Amino acid sequence: MTLHLADEEIIHTHPGSITSSTYESPHIWWFTTLSILVSLLVLEQVVYRFKKRHLPGNNWTIPIIGKFADSLRPTMENYKSMWNAGPLAVTSVFNIFIVMASDNEYSRKIMNSPTYAVPCLVQSAKTIMGERNWIFLTGQEHVDYRKGLNVLFTRKALGMYTAVQDAVVRRHFADWIADSNDSKPAAKPIMWTVRFLNMDLSLNVFCGKHIPDYAKREIFDKYWLVTRALELVNFPFAFPGTKVYRAKKTVEMATEWLRKASASSREAMAKGGQSECLMDEWMKAMSDPTYKSKHRKEFSDQEVAMSVFSFLFASQDAMASALIFGFQLLADHPKVVAKLRGEQERIRHGDFEAPLTLELMDEMPYLQATVKEVLRLVSPVTMVPYTATRDFPLSENYTVPAGSMVIPAYYPSLHDPKVYPDPDSFIPERWLDPNGTANTNPQYFLVYGSGPHRCIGQEYANISIGVVLATLVVMFDMEHEITLDSYKIE
Ligand code: HEM
Repeated sequence: MTLHLADEEIIHTHPGSITSSTYESPHIWWFTTLSILVSLLVLEQVVYRFKKRHLPGNNWTIPIIGKFADSLRPTMENYKSMWNAGPLAVTSVFNIFIVMASDNEYSRKIMNSPTYAVPCLVQSAKTIMGERNWIFLTGQEHVDYRKGLNVLFTRKALGMYTAVQDAVVRRHFADWIADSNDSKPAAKPIMWTVRFLNMDLSLNVFCGKHIPDYAKREIFDKYWLVTRALELVNFPFAFPGTKVYRAKKTVEMATEWLRKASASSREAMAKGGQSECLMDEWMKAMSDPTYKSKHRKEFSDQEVAMSVFSFLFASQDAMASALIFGFQLLADHPKVVAKLRGEQERIRHGDFEAPLTLELMDEMPYLQATVKEVLRLVSPVTMVPYTATRDFPLSENYTVPAGSMVIPAYYPSLHDPKVYPDPDSFIPERWLDPNGTANTNPQYFLVYGSGPHRCIGQEYANISIGVVLATLVVMFDMEHEITLDSYKIE
């Protein structure tokens, strides 16, 4: 103590050095900083409580980070417990206030209220896809752009895509059979095999012969870098070495191939070539005089490329998930396979060499029911985050504050026992009765979303999955080596 005081004395009296006021200032500085911090932390809790009001959710938020740990490792169990907490429930991550809607009516209201809420992709998406990509458009601009894309999904176009898909699926399956060892069959993981099939299907339908096989392979090999960079939590800037940087480079590479394909298609169609893929359909539609007279949008090769990449971006993971679970569910349900085979034999008169057509598929209700049931039971998309652009009166007694994230969930609707009795079982038959609850409540089938941003490729996706599963059951017998992770959804 004495020594301490003596030291102080020396410091205080040293000419021209530390004065008593500067000696006290660190204390004041610490006190002020601490007071500001404590006030901010209290304010954070007050704002959270104010926004939360009576809704279920934690009464306090973890300071600064909120439920960040949960968002790093999201699990279905955590989501289910939030959905079970009530029709609306709240949480917060890094001060982003989040309202989760599990109720069907609220979920649809969010997706159908474009003046209050717009889709919000993960932070890194704009960096990777480019700010100018149409998928970031909202309001009237989005509606107008999307109208221009409808020519790609007409019944006539879908019929042509079916023929392409049939040929690609047969080629892949023939390769699988050639690669298998008949004398010693063994279980093989299918994720990458199916992902490649899916990418090849997409690129053949979208670009046909306008893209070389080695470019398709390059896009497939690198596409996973895009999926990885779109995880919920990622460093959002494209600095060399980051996931986002590698994804951006992949998008640039793929878009350049797609731009070349668009130019090639434009040239071929201008010379009167026959339409054999989505890009050809697009060029034909744009060169039709009635197209121009309706003041429809003209798309440049770059815009075609960016839009086609948006189709890959929107579909690769969802389609791969649907196909992989489709394979798995069929392998686990031999009675369903037997019914599918029966239907194939009946409608195709046992001639499986003749290609599948849209007209034939129209006559296959059991195939259509199976596709719907795969998508319902293991929906590739369980929810889509939106942002409230202004105060959003979502329910009679709750208004979502502007700036909040508001997340319509699909899973609870798709597993609602009132509409889908025994919801966790795989029962394609539930779709066969036109008066059954599944068919009389189409608003519960949220697999493809709802509202102005609902999936533009939904019919195309249903047909794709149908072609793959129909060909699978007539070409293969299946066995599933079940693992602990087989039905785990991450
Ligand atoms: C099983 C496969 C698929 C599933 C489950 C699926 C699901 C979805 C969902 C849930 C949305 C968002 C809806 C919303 O925000 O309300 C969406 C949007 C979209 N999907 Fe799909 N999709 C699939 C396949 C495809 C395919 C094959 C394509 C392209 C050919 C595609 C293109 C798109 C596009 C472009 C959007 C954005 C639409 C917009 O913002 O206007 N999807 N999809």
